[in-house]
Amino acid sequence: EKGGYDSFMLKEMHEQPQAVRDTMGARIDEENKRVILPELKMSDAELATYDRIYIVACGTSMHAGLVGKDVIEKWTRVPVEVAVASEFRYRDPIYTDKTLMIVISQSGETADTLAALREAKKSNVKVLAITNVVGSSVAREADEVIFTWAGPEVAVASTKAYTSQVVALYLFSLYLAQVKGTMAAAEVAEVVEHLSEIPGKIASMLNNDDQIRRFAEGTKEVSSLFFIGRSLDYAVSLEGSLKLKEISYIHSEAYPAGELKHGTLALIEDNVPVVALATQPDIYEKTVSNIVEVKARGAHVLGFATEGNHDLAKSVDEVIYMPATLPMLTPILTVIPLQLLAYYASVARGLDVDKPRNLAKSVTVE
Ligand code: M6R
Repeated sequence: EKGGYDSFMLKEMHEQPQAVRDTMGARIDEENKRVILPELKMSDAELATYDRIYIVACGTSMHAGLVGKDVIEKWTRVPVEVAVASEFRYRDPIYTDKTLMIVISQSGETADTLAALREAKKSNVKVLAITNVVGSSVAREADEVIFTWAGPEVAVASTKAYTSQVVALYLFSLYLAQVKGTMAAAEVAEVVEHLSEIPGKIASMLNNDDQIRRFAEGTKEVSSLFFIGRSLDYAVSLEGSLKLKEISYIHSEAYPAGELKHGTLALIEDNVPVVALATQPDIYEKTVSNIVEVKARGAHVLGFATEGNHDLAKSVDEVIYMPATLPMLTPILTVIPLQLLAYYASVARGLDVDKPRNLAKSVTVE
């Protein structure tokens, strides 16, 4: 049932091009290059009234939400707050009648996410769920559902669920932008065109994994690893760091690149590995200056840059080049080598990739 792969995680990582394609599926109107979400029960007029969004989730799903926040805010100008479900459910959130709540859960059974959903519903807040499991508690109880069509995810480490959730969030953001009129039709069409090329680009990242594999194998004796990046690169760094901790048991932290010098830089010394994501053009120079700071303290830096970048190689030890796409869409590509890094680091240490210690696939306890 692992389809010839050594582990479910490896199989599921390789299913990502298909999962992403299926999640986009019938939601893209190819002819008019726009998004359609026929599953939404509420009217476009109602959707257009929401002027504030909470995204509530746990773990990897919360990290997908962080990407969603930046994308929704950029494309629709609606302010979004992302919250960890186990915190949010005990808060006294500020709801108005124009607040929309989005819960994200692969399994649709995570106890804290479900409890947050129920709390919101008690306050008459409209809840839209992004989930992978038809018939799950979250799918049944939410007012609206956008399913990710990733297929069953067995490995404890979430991979194809994340990329599908991120796609679902792109689609939702584009749809909201269409409804609110915050993006020109030509802009939407451009994103839609780039989205349709994403599955092929994911496949090429999966098939060219020698470099990340070598880097991962080099972490066998490493006790700590850092990820740095700004804006969307930071959101993806958090996911890379969680994945690494979860299955390789290497301590790691993800830091907003500009925040390092406020404390964490003290931990950087000779040969500490740093993975530096520098794919966002608007803050590229700023990230490079942070990379120079860690290099100066002796860090071994693996940089991520966009294809065609001839600059980053000068400041780092090695570079992984990402296929070019719109800056807003890079997270769905940069996460691939980060998943592979965690995977190969785990394999190199002889660990059980699919069943890390202390963890369960679906966290149904509070
Ligand atoms: O099923 P959910 O998406 O609600 O699960 C949330 C987290 O438990 C989950 O993403 C967890 O962080 C993963 N094991 C990370 O790989």
